[in-house]
Amino acid sequence: MEKTGDLSAGLKKISWAETYMPVLSIIKQDFLERKPLKKIRISATLHVTKETAALIKTLSAGGAEVFLTPSNPLSTDNDVAAALREIGVHVMAWRGMSNEEYFSAIDWALSQKPNIIIDDGADAIVSYHEKSEAFQVFGALEETTTGVRRVKALEEKKALRFTVIAVNNAKTKWLFDNRYGTGQSALDGIMRATQILFAGKCVVVAGYGMVGRGIANRARGLGSKVIVTEVDPIRALEAVMDGYEVMPMLEAARRGDVFITATGNKNVIDINHFEVMKQGAILANAGHFDVEINVKALYAIASNVREINSCTEEITLKNGKKVYLLAKGRLVNLVCASGHPSEVMDMSFSNQALCTEFLVNTQPKEKKLIEVPEEIDKKVAWLKLKAFGVEIDKLSYEQEEYLASW
Ligand code: NAD
Ligand code: ADE
Repeated sequence: MEKTGDLSAGLKKISWAETYMPVLSIIKQDFLERKPLKKIRISATLHVTKETAALIKTLSAGGAEVFLTPSNPLSTDNDVAAALREIGVHVMAWRGMSNEEYFSAIDWALSQKPNIIIDDGADAIVSYHEKSEAFQVFGALEETTTGVRRVKALEEKKALRFTVIAVNNAKTKWLFDNRYGTGQSALDGIMRATQILFAGKCVVVAGYGMVGRGIANRARGLGSKVIVTEVDPIRALEAVMDGYEVMPMLEAARRGDVFITATGNKNVIDINHFEVMKQGAILANAGHFDVEINVKALYAIASNVREINSCTEEITLKNGKKVYLLAKGRLVNLVCASGHPSEVMDMSFSNQALCTEFLVNTQPKEKKLIEVPEEIDKKVAWLKLKAFGVEIDKLSYEQEEYLASW
């Protein structure tokens, strides 16, 4: 696999993303004038996309020196990595890294003794905690649901060594990025890899969190019949009342044409499910790690594996049926497409930029997972509304008094 990219294409991609990231652009301009991150060293473990480049340029505009590594071995856009190197960012990333290369890139970034760690999935935060010689950091920021869960586990074991801000939990992140971002980009990934028609297909979505419901909603919008599988009774009930069929995976496995996992859990689709699937079933994952579809077991029951294209493998099972695995079970939206659209990453990464400044200014001493300050979440929402040209009503004095009167 190619390790280098096309610099000029990368610069154009980044400029395209910035056009559609108006909130981050405002923050970048402000950072450029105030330099709030002067002399700050940041290690960023993020999908190396054009949107991430816009964030890194914002942090650099604020005066930070950034060391960038990918948060998935297959999600790097080599053109973007080349462009970032050209503008002075330290990048160790290429598409198709081995697991060893992936973790040694993280080690390299941590060896730069960053003041702040920005992470997506918590591999960098966990790697830091596995090191015996501790260097001091002001804190870290975590981008995704699975990463927040991993940090929470460290906190519960009393092993967490610094403050981590759960950027994922900002309302202007999870309500939009997880839902509308993944809803669109996961289907985009499946379409780019397979060119299938969604209309009339039976799409099985595992997990009805924000990611699952975004995907289910968009698949229905394309004319698919959608089945949801869940383990949480309340979320299952929500899916029922949103109009989806809900059933155990074993039953759904016999009916689905396309399967998309979005649970943050492992072996959600396993041998007993593969064995009853229809000829031609397509398997894709939108959850953070490549464990949601039991890929090892799938290969183990295969009589033949053939690459159809760089994203799609045809797996002939010993029972004679063929199923298709996308992105080797890794994040389908980032491996087979370009991740979330810039407009939605505008909000996620504006939270990242503003929370970075918050960590630098406050240097909190608590070894805790904390939420994004409400002022930051609201600021991102206001700026995004402004960028959309949308105005909203304001409470009158009389209304404020009324609401406060109970
Ligand atoms: P969430 O925890 O809110 O939702 C996951 C849902 O899956 C829960 O309702 C849970 O009950 C359900 N679930 C767990 N095990 C299950 C099982 N065996 N079968 C069926 N359902 C099961 O999480 P979320 O915010 O929706 O995120 C889901 C995953 O997607 C996480 O790994 C997250 O990190 C990742 N994510 C990916 C992207 C992307 O770009 N692809 C973007 C955001 C989040
Ligand atoms: N996660 C999902 N989509 C992304 C994107 N476009 N850039 C960075 N991280 C992402």
